[in-house]
Amino acid sequence: MEDFKEKKQIFKKSILDKKTKIYIAGHKGMVGSAVWRALVFKGYSNLIGKTSKEIDLTNQQAVFDFYKKEQPEVVINAAAKVGGILANNDFPYQFLMENMQIQNNLIDGAFKLGIEKFIFLGSSCIYPKFAPQPLKEEYLLTDSLEPTNEWYAIAKITGVKACQAIRKQYNKDYISLMPTNLYGYFDNFDLQSSHVLPAMLRKFHEATLNQHSDVTLWGSGTPKREFLFVDDLADAVIYSLENTFPEHLYNVGTGKDITIKELAKIIQKITGHKGNIFWDNSKPDGTPRKLMDVSKMKDLGWVYSTDLEYGIKKTYQWFLDNSGRIKEIKL
Ligand SMILES: NC(=O)c1ccc[n+]([C@@H]2O[C@H](COP(=O)([O-])OP(=O)(O)OC[C@H]3O[C@@H](n4cnc5c(N)ncnc54)[C@H](OP(=O)(O)O)[C@@H]3O)[C@@H](O)[C@H]2O)c1
Repeated sequence: MEDFKEKKQIFKKSILDKKTKIYIAGHKGMVGSAVWRALVFKGYSNLIGKTSKEIDLTNQQAVFDFYKKEQPEVVINAAAKVGGILANNDFPYQFLMENMQIQNNLIDGAFKLGIEKFIFLGSSCIYPKFAPQPLKEEYLLTDSLEPTNEWYAIAKITGVKACQAIRKQYNKDYISLMPTNLYGYFDNFDLQSSHVLPAMLRKFHEATLNQHSDVTLWGSGTPKREFLFVDDLADAVIYSLENTFPEHLYNVGTGKDITIKELAKIIQKITGHKGNIFWDNSKPDGTPRKLMDVSKMKDLGWVYSTDLEYGIKKTYQWFLDNSGRIKEIKL
């Protein structure tokens, strides 16, 4: 009981209600669509979303015109150019510039229109490559980044800093949430541009269909990673929407990690694959370990709820149910 009282003092309920006009940028993406579903489920009835075909968020004028016309009261930024190690490595300029353009237009437009609440989504790659584990929010900008995705990370860091500056200088509720690796419905399953978990699901699935042929996976399999089911992230976004937090930056994850080899075993079991697994050491491993310290969110009363194996089973079922129309982002 004492604990609870303490929590009540460190943050307050925000003033929005179920009719508050909420713009979810990137509402057709994996994160944006999960946030949209969760908001609808909770009874929010005044949501706006536009696809990249309807508004190119890299176009400043288009974003400002859209804001003026629609007058959203809250913005959730789930729009970004997203990809795995290979995609980041091959397209550094696009990962740096397009992400900065998208977030600058969304953040600056929101600020200029007088929008009081903005939720910026970044990623755990903003933290230094060799930062102590688990990663605490305060490690930001204390050392060099992982070179394979520093372009994306630098863009995201500027977004975090823009929100922090608006918060500090103008006392607005602009916050940044840094999710760990995500997986779930509407993920990108393209083998060139996807993240490790959806790429593995697809490889094992296809090998299983192909008479349990051998599967070759990138890297050594020894790096450790943390994975969060995207619906849990959506829940954290709503939690931060419905409350006003005292600080500008929060990690969102499970606080637990596993090796890529262990992940492969789980996915092999779920897909029913019986062949061999080989590791291609010529492909980069990325950061040796990436585990979030999630104690700040926990102290505010939010924790994840979906166990990894259960979440992967749900994702695989979704993948099977949607075969033929799964997303494959081509670079
Ligand atoms: N996926 C992960 O594991 C992960 C992990 C940590 C953090 N995050 C963060 O979560 C956020 C969303 O990621 P996600 O996985 O949901 O990505 P996603 O599935 O690729 O979705 C990204 C969305 O951004 C929109 N978008 C991209 N460029 C745009 C442009 N120029 N104009 C308008 N819209 C544009 C896309 O719209 P259209 O579909 O209409 O083209 C898409 O809906 C990102 O900030 C990312 O850093 C993701």
